[in-house]
Amino acid sequence: LRARLTVDPARPVGQVSRRLFGAFVEHMGRGVYGGIFEPGHPTADPAGFRRDVVDLVREMGVTTVRYPGGNFVSGFRWEDGVGPRDQRPVRLNLAWHSTETNEVGLHEFASWLEQVGAELMLAVNLGTRGTLEALDLLEYANVPSGTTLADQRVRNGRRQPFDVRMWCLGNEMDGPWQLGQMSADDYGKLAARTAKAMRQVDPDLELVACGSSGAAMPTFGEWERTVLTHAYDDVDYLSCHAYYEEKDGDLGSFLASATDMDRFIETVVATADHVKAVRRSTRTINVSFDEWNVWYLSRVPADLARRIDDWPLAPAISEEPYTVADGVVVGNLLMSLIRHADRVTSASLAQLVNVIAPIAAEPDGPAWRKTTFFPFATTSRLARGVALQVDVDCPGYDTAEYGEVPVVDAAATADDGVAALFLVNRSQTEDAEVTVDLAPLGVRTVEEALTLSDPDPHAANTTDRQDRVRLRPTPRAALIEGRLSVSLPPVSWTAVSLT
Ligand code: AHR
Repeated sequence: LRARLTVDPARPVGQVSRRLFGAFVEHMGRGVYGGIFEPGHPTADPAGFRRDVVDLVREMGVTTVRYPGGNFVSGFRWEDGVGPRDQRPVRLNLAWHSTETNEVGLHEFASWLEQVGAELMLAVNLGTRGTLEALDLLEYANVPSGTTLADQRVRNGRRQPFDVRMWCLGNEMDGPWQLGQMSADDYGKLAARTAKAMRQVDPDLELVACGSSGAAMPTFGEWERTVLTHAYDDVDYLSCHAYYEEKDGDLGSFLASATDMDRFIETVVATADHVKAVRRSTRTINVSFDEWNVWYLSRVPADLARRIDDWPLAPAISEEPYTVADGVVVGNLLMSLIRHADRVTSASLAQLVNVIAPIAAEPDGPAWRKTTFFPFATTSRLARGVALQVDVDCPGYDTAEYGEVPVVDAAATADDGVAALFLVNRSQTEDAEVTVDLAPLGVRTVEEALTLSDPDPHAANTTDRQDRVRLRPTPRAALIEGRLSVSLPPVSWTAVSLT
């Protein structure tokens, strides 16, 4: 099977924001406790954070981290997580039916992020709390000193403000599972009020309104329109959330998940621009794709402990084994984000450690990379500068979910003499022989060409074989007189960097 690609440097899509390579850490399962934080672990630092996990997060190139939820935030009192640790309340985590000890809160998480080298993106609770509590948290976090809350932060050990720039105005407020679920009208008004109030404290914040919890929600589209009708002038982003899984053995549809992400983004952008037109606005609302990943939601037991006398501490939830095919899809979803770089300017892989995560952290044991780690780390490292339009001329195949889709998918970036190409072969049986005319980019050398593939697309890394799946050199990658040729194995993801 052959594919011919055309990359045109004269048609840049937009600057690739470093914030596209964000992740998400929620107080859920073993994400925080037993994930990033495990006092007593052989690699734990004096604050209780695992150094082996920090090293892997750094290697992944994570640029921002959304915190502390997710569904958790809708029942969270931020004050519980600050001040002397031995005085912090122990609470119910209603979202994940577990016990929250509050040993990790804003200060601890922010100092962990300093080790990781990533920016903090905070979510406020608009489910069971409101504008006033959001204002209090903002004052505590960002006001230098001189008020009770700011001075409390200083007394709690943090002289400099946290200076958090990006704030999520609640989480998935359309979801029936959400504490405090609201109608689009109610949420849109609350988001607008809260955003206006927060800007009175700090006008330069970047504020994210909740979009739908997913494109399959019954109110999708109308939710976005209504929320923005109320909040258009007050927010900067609308969120998108999407999780994909291989259902009933339909690998062909699953491998085409990025087609769905493309359509999702384009629909949300069109809806936001419709509201812009109606309002004659000169502002543009961008997308914060602040939850995306492969997640086998259908395997989450519906009977997560629900008894009144059973609130486990950090129970294992959704510790996905992640196969090669899952890694290929994650790489392809990143390509979708890149090719919409003009409008998707923030994104968070959900999540980071143990829970729906590219990093496994074993209790008392090692931390290691799942298949999805590799495309994320490599894309974060190589995607630089602007995203370029790539036209792909190749055969298609039929999928039950999305109709006909191209077998080969691609994205490209370029920055001052350096270029990167990201490729996926969705064929389950055939190699794809790809050629690309890169002469217009002026590149001469293949610096790196790495591929994620395996004869068994369902192969995964495990505790016993942590290196079963890893990146390998791409077969037959050559650049001759400006023409790149590469061979993509079946069900594979590839990155090529060129100078
Ligand atoms: O990431 C896991 C959960 O998925 C989040 O808490 C929620 O926002 C979404 O439904």
